[in-house]
Amino acid sequence: MSTNRRLVMFSDDAALTATLRDCIRQKRALDLDVHERLMSQMNGSAVPLAEAGDVILFKAGRNPESEIGAVRALRRTVGAKRAILAFADEDLSLAAIRGLTAAGVSEVIPYPAPLAELSERIDHWTREPEYPVPALRRPETRLGRVISVAQARGGLGATTLAVNLAHRLMDPHGLISKKRNYRVALVDFDLQFGAVASFLDIEPTSALYRLAAGDVVPDATYLDQALVEHGSGLHVLTAPDTLCPLDALDPEQAAAIIDNLRAEFDFVVVDLPRGLAGWMPAVIDRTDRMLLLSDTTVPCIRQARRLVQLFTEEALNLDIEIVVSRETRPLIAKRHHTEAERVLERPFRHWLPLDAKACRTAADSGKPLAAAAGRSSLSRGIDGIARGLIKEIKARDTAGLVDTSR
Ligand SMILES: Nc1ncnc2c1ncn2[C@@H]1O[C@H](COP(=O)(O)OP(=O)(O)O)[C@@H](O)[C@H]1O
Ligand SMILES: [Mg+2]
Repeated sequence: MSTNRRLVMFSDDAALTATLRDCIRQKRALDLDVHERLMSQMNGSAVPLAEAGDVILFKAGRNPESEIGAVRALRRTVGAKRAILAFADEDLSLAAIRGLTAAGVSEVIPYPAPLAELSERIDHWTREPEYPVPALRRPETRLGRVISVAQARGGLGATTLAVNLAHRLMDPHGLISKKRNYRVALVDFDLQFGAVASFLDIEPTSALYRLAAGDVVPDATYLDQALVEHGSGLHVLTAPDTLCPLDALDPEQAAAIIDNLRAEFDFVVVDLPRGLAGWMPAVIDRTDRMLLLSDTTVPCIRQARRLVQLFTEEALNLDIEIVVSRETRPLIAKRHHTEAERVLERPFRHWLPLDAKACRTAADSGKPLAAAAGRSSLSRGIDGIARGLIKEIKARDTAGLVDTSR
């Protein structure tokens, strides 16, 4: 898998294309696709081509009206995170620039321009996403443990793990101790594709959408009202019930959500989205244990490695454990496994077996695995992870580090 960032360009201007090629040639880790047609002539067929790009560029100005329409369609498809850049000569009217920007162009770059200037703008827009330091600091007394679930690729079972881990952490069946039940909150931070509510057959709420749409920093009361209590006793903050961009939350809001929940619950389980957003460092910074799902294929391990690097750059001592999904731990470690563990600089700590039948049964009944297919190997695998986490919290409690009695 190439980790290069890809630029996709629509332009029939040979000089512009040549300049851009010169510019890219001097840089590493960038690929450029050029389509020698204008956006305005493509009647929507630009969208599927443009989707391949991390940054989308086009020559603007020949037909601003239809370019604005094309940009609008493109922006709808690629979401908020990707840059769309327009090259415009000085003839482009201010109204057209305003129209393009309103439709979703990230920057209108004047052209012709000196190579150095173009180069600088390309650098700016192809830089890895930035992770601002969260404004709120960790409170002195640490209460609930924050467990974040991330994934090296989609569809591995991150949400399945988050939901069922949260459910098992409540210890409703006396998993470890018959006396003690833990209070658990589950947060679906997959703002765009959150599936936690449907896994648990509950109605998603507008709470996160309302936060994303405004700039309120939520307090304990807001969160109390925002949580949905599942029949099992699990408290859930669902993903928004309305479509909303991944970066709609801001770091202070994400921080306040975690801090307030952590003050009230023994465990806060977070289902992270697959993409990256500016609020994520606030969550990562507060995470006590990150569970990162991967499979053992080379592309997936590479992606896992990138995430490990990214996350540990954010939080130096972040405790990341690798969860191998859809595979059973082999009796004797295979060569490519040891190699992957070396690349990741950590062992394959947990293994969750392939178990489509159990997932299906749980999904069809809208119940957690433990309730729908408690004896399944997958359910037992997740139990094992929950058990380990409960042991840790108990050890911490008896060491008297934190008083969690309430
Ligand atoms: N261990 C597993 N074995 C088989 N199917 C699984 C497993 N874990 C999850 N699935 C199924 O894969 C699909 C994606 O799972 P999900 O948890 O939503 O993945 P993610 O959140 O990583 O995208 C779902 O249909 C789920 O039931
Ligand atoms: Mg998911």
